Amino acid sequence: MPKWLDNAVFYEIYPQSFLDTNADGIGDFQGIISKLDYIRELGFNALWMNPCFLSPFGDAGYDVADYYTVAPRYGTNEDLKRLFAEAHKRGIHVLLDLVPGHTSVEHKWFRESMKPEKNAYSDRYIWTDSVWETPENMGCLRGISQRDGSCALNFFSCQPALNYGYYNRTRPWQQSPEDDGPRATLEAMMDVMRFWLSMGCDGFRVDMAMSLVKNDPDSLGTIALWQKVRTFLDREFPEAALISEWGEPEKSLKGGFHMDFLLHFGPSHYNDLFRCQEPYFSDRGLGDASAFVEKYLESRKKAGKDGLICIPSGNHDMHRLARFVEGDEKKLAFTFLLTMPGAPFVYYGDEIGMGYVEGLTSVEGGYERTGARSPMQWDSSVNAGFSAAPTEKLYIAQDPSPDRPTVRAQVGDPDSLMNQVRHLIALRQAHPALQNRSGITFVSNGAPKQPLAYERETEGEKLLVAINPYREEAAFSYREALGDALYAFGGTATQSGETVMLPPVSAGIYRIG
Ligand code: GLC
Ligand code: CA
Repeated sequence: MPKWLDNAVFYEIYPQSFLDTNADGIGDFQGIISKLDYIRELGFNALWMNPCFLSPFGDAGYDVADYYTVAPRYGTNEDLKRLFAEAHKRGIHVLLDLVPGHTSVEHKWFRESMKPEKNAYSDRYIWTDSVWETPENMGCLRGISQRDGSCALNFFSCQPALNYGYYNRTRPWQQSPEDDGPRATLEAMMDVMRFWLSMGCDGFRVDMAMSLVKNDPDSLGTIALWQKVRTFLDREFPEAALISEWGEPEKSLKGGFHMDFLLHFGPSHYNDLFRCQEPYFSDRGLGDASAFVEKYLESRKKAGKDGLICIPSGNHDMHRLARFVEGDEKKLAFTFLLTMPGAPFVYYGDEIGMGYVEGLTSVEGGYERTGARSPMQWDSSVNAGFSAAPTEKLYIAQDPSPDRPTVRAQVGDPDSLMNQVRHLIALRQAHPALQNRSGITFVSNGAPKQPLAYERETEGEKLLVAINPYREEAAFSYREALGDALYAFGGTATQSGETVMLPPVSAGIYRIG
């Protein structure tokens, strides 16, 4: 287990939208490099960048055409290498996005695989053995070449599924994960990992990690596959970290992932907190965090002590947090995000409360996700300081609202969301009890109008985090005496006997013992 994950706090960058330094309207590596100081200043010590490889961008780069070459619009492989080095100089680890489940139709493996003559790539993708037969429960491509078969899709129609075999096999063309084709696919993917890790990357966020072995109802085949990857990493790159887009830590962590995300899909009740009609972090007090808490504790127990369950502020696939959680509610949401176990992940722009831009026409396969991918808002100059290109050339339009938040406006305001994020990360780094692997015990589970309160503990230190999003005072019972407040927003708690009262819309962190 890489030691650096003990206190890693991640920032997610969607490279297209971070900073454009050559005025073509699209963000680039040089832009990211020039903002590393900003990222470090906020306290982040790790980055995840969305795919930045050669691609026709039918799905924002999740349709890779060459795993070994970065997209020229972002820079060169040398620039990426420099980005790793510049990040490392500042104590920042960098994860790339690995897309192992599918490629672009333009990938040379797929071009070869389409040929009717048997070749080294014929089994790289999942093909039926007749164009008249389609794979069950999956989309497919067919009639696109002279190969007599249909090729399974993993996501959009531009993303044919790589072949890692079938766990349960019912048709002759379904291969076992141990057959030559699927084994070669996995070898090829490990080779891609080796290439970037050797260049200085520190690990991967793995796209659709649960999707690799097909007809795998309990994910046993996919878990076994990832265990092989973990063995390879432990042997060759023991400091490399792996986080899965899976959303079921009880499975992914068994597969050897160091971390898994809770996501807007899956059984975690993550959406109850920030993304539903009545989110828990709303001052109306109608939201309910209790199902989340119950599921979270169950996952923690099943996942074991070593794996990290990571709760993101958002990502490039979800509506922005600020769409449902407003004003000071955002500060409470961040108090929660930055005091929970697991490595926190903050999506670029969430630290200033960037909004979800309604009504944008889809860009690069974003569809309704496009509104959460608008360019970063740095200052009040043209294009919010994102780009010197003519506004109509921006890759995705910016948030048009006149009061859109910017970094520049928040830097100097001690009460800004951004400064609060900085402050909370600093507290986390100063107090081991708040860090990624320390324990958690809930003392109030966030039922409607009830606070969310939990102890965080490690050897020699115990803290209580208590949050009341509700617009009225709220109480919970607690036996131990509250000590100093390390942090208080919206007033401090009062205690009488075994009852703790929290002011309306408030959050605090207290010493215990
Ligand atoms: C993941 C990515 C998403 C992409 C999809 C297909 O869910 O996060 O952006 O469209 O996989 O690769
Ligand atoms: Ca650019």
